[in-house]
Amino acid sequence: MGVTRAQVTGVGAYLPKQVLTNADLAKKLDTSDEWIRERTGIRERRIAAEGEFTSDLAIAASQEALRAAGLNASAIDMIVLATATPDETFPATATTVQARLGISRGAAFDVQAVCSGFIYALAVADNFIKAGQVKNCLVIGAETFSRIIDWDDRTTAVLFGDGAGAVVLSAAQGDGTVKDRGVLSTHLFSDGRLHDLLYVDGGPSKTRTTGLLRMEGREVFRHAVTNLSEAIELAMRSNGVEAADIDWFVPHQANQRILDATARKVGVHPSRVISTVAIHANTSAASVPLALAAAVNDGRIKRDQLLVLEAMGGGFTWGSSLIRW
Ligand code: UT7
Repeated sequence: MGVTRAQVTGVGAYLPKQVLTNADLAKKLDTSDEWIRERTGIRERRIAAEGEFTSDLAIAASQEALRAAGLNASAIDMIVLATATPDETFPATATTVQARLGISRGAAFDVQAVCSGFIYALAVADNFIKAGQVKNCLVIGAETFSRIIDWDDRTTAVLFGDGAGAVVLSAAQGDGTVKDRGVLSTHLFSDGRLHDLLYVDGGPSKTRTTGLLRMEGREVFRHAVTNLSEAIELAMRSNGVEAADIDWFVPHQANQRILDATARKVGVHPSRVISTVAIHANTSAASVPLALAAAVNDGRIKRDQLLVLEAMGGGFTWGSSLIRW
């Protein structure tokens, strides 16, 4: 049966120039390169420059994705931007991106699901395309978490970085089978009861301030492996595929130990895991598209290969997606 599929036609990434190494952090905090590497796999992260905003990162990544897709910005009908660090409380950062890309039609809005934001944005875009309402959509994950970090808290300050990744999704015809190229399925979950394990202690309504990130890392870790492996297994089961059929596992980049444990649990071989956590750290909603861009640009991810994407973050929110590239 003929169906409409959302195919990925371009991918782009942007990282701020400034590199902050573990050694740099150890000069200001009671931590060490050894601790950070052993517990997280992180070696360094990028930090946005003064005056460089989430929208700037998002625009640079989007321009690269549009170039890769061979599309002019005027062909974009919708922009879905996942971020927990918008330029302003309102309007949506997506509208700034829209204006600066020179687009004056269609819709642009933000999606807030913290580290799962890109999977949520992908699901929204996929459903608009499948419904026939949108032909070409920019899906962006962009964050400046350096602005909501408590730089005196060693339990969180060492974990996060800034960056942006973007994909262009375009409507195409498929046969309705797992052999179709494009997004094959998306699976979203949340459980608001777990708010206190990962949140920001401020906001316009509660405190009239932005607030800083607070996390019970050990508890988040425990939930992450369970929730993510269940979401991946659901994505595989829904499409009638097994771990051996997956060419690339493109996970949210929070901690190398979470990547390893999740891959082991679902039976994906470590050589099939795309990992950028060592050089990007946790860039929240940007981490999955940044990892995608790295593996597409270095030639690992190739046309027709099967990818599983996943992420989990504050809320809690989590989700997965199966994509044929
Ligand atoms: O994006 C989604 C959300 N985030 C995550 O997925 C993060 C999930 N959690 C994690 O990645 C890990 O739990 C962390 C990396 C945050 C922590 O690793 P851990 O192995 O769970 O360590 P821990 O929290 O159990 O802490 C072990 C020790 C503690 O000292 P004591 O109590 O054993 O004396 C901490 O105080 O390590 C100490 N510690 C540090 N030591 C040096 C915590 N942070 C640091 C640090 N440097 N930066």
